[in-house]
Amino acid sequence: MHPSAYPPQRVAIACVLALITLAYAGCAEDLKGASASAEALSPALMSMLADNRLLLRWTLPDYVDPGTLGDLGQRVEILSDGARTYGRTYPELATRSLVFVSSFPLERPPESVRANIELDGIRTYRGRSIEPPTSAQASWAVPLEPPDDHPARTYRFADDIAPLLAPCAPCHGAPRNIPPALTYTALREARSKRVPGAPLVVSRDPLRSRLLFVLLPDHPDRRGTLMPPPYAEAHPLPLDTLLAIEGWIRDGALP
Ligand code: HEC
Repeated sequence: MHPSAYPPQRVAIACVLALITLAYAGCAEDLKGASASAEALSPALMSMLADNRLLLRWTLPDYVDPGTLGDLGQRVEILSDGARTYGRTYPELATRSLVFVSSFPLERPPESVRANIELDGIRTYRGRSIEPPTSAQASWAVPLEPPDDHPARTYRFADDIAPLLAPCAPCHGAPRNIPPALTYTALREARSKRVPGAPLVVSRDPLRSRLLFVLLPDHPDRRGTLMPPPYAEAHPLPLDTLLAIEGWIRDGALP
């Protein structure tokens, strides 16, 4: 048919109708998603990091089985003030949570944040499925203080991590020298004795790094080893330290 058969006004009206239909279809989809999940889970924490990147944190009921994660990035969609916000999503061992950090700083704290999350098929170490907090919608209530500067920085072993391992030195350093030595090279190369062959540190993969498991009292895969051992005089490592070690591994376990 010749294009002139459609006068400009008719085309304009048709377009508006199509847009309304699209918008309506979008809303219907949202409602369906919301009713499908018993409770829409809001992030336990929404915050801006010191460098104005957006941070969201959902608390998980247990440690996840890394083998069931698949492409986690594809399962999480974040919109801040309606705009798709790209970033990194990862499970954080130290806090047993799912974390989203935007790749770029936002110009200002968003007034609304919408998250579509599909955790279907993700299971815990103990084999339970993790309930999908689908289609969570949350409004920016209080712009929180930056929680800490951990995710906003890149850790280096020599400057940031080695000093945190000082409480381990009485056993793993001279004169007792219980293996593994907690030096950069040893941590990158040594393997677990308790779980033969298991790497202590897998660069960019905290969920497969045994070093972290032995520091978490409730991790199902620590196989009896808890560091520092309960009989030692040293206190368990504080959360800040665990987050730093995990961040160091996630960012590539740099020297
Ligand atoms: C009181 C002494 C003592 C202290 C303090 C101590 N460790 Fe250990 N550590 C041991 C002993 C003994 C082993 C070997 C036996 C075992 O695996 O349970 C060990 C084993 C390990 C292993 C290897 C686990 C494996 O799978 O083979 C790592 C990693 C480790 N320690 C890290 C640390 C870290 C990090 C600290 C400080 C937070 C620390 N340890 C503090 C005594 C200690």
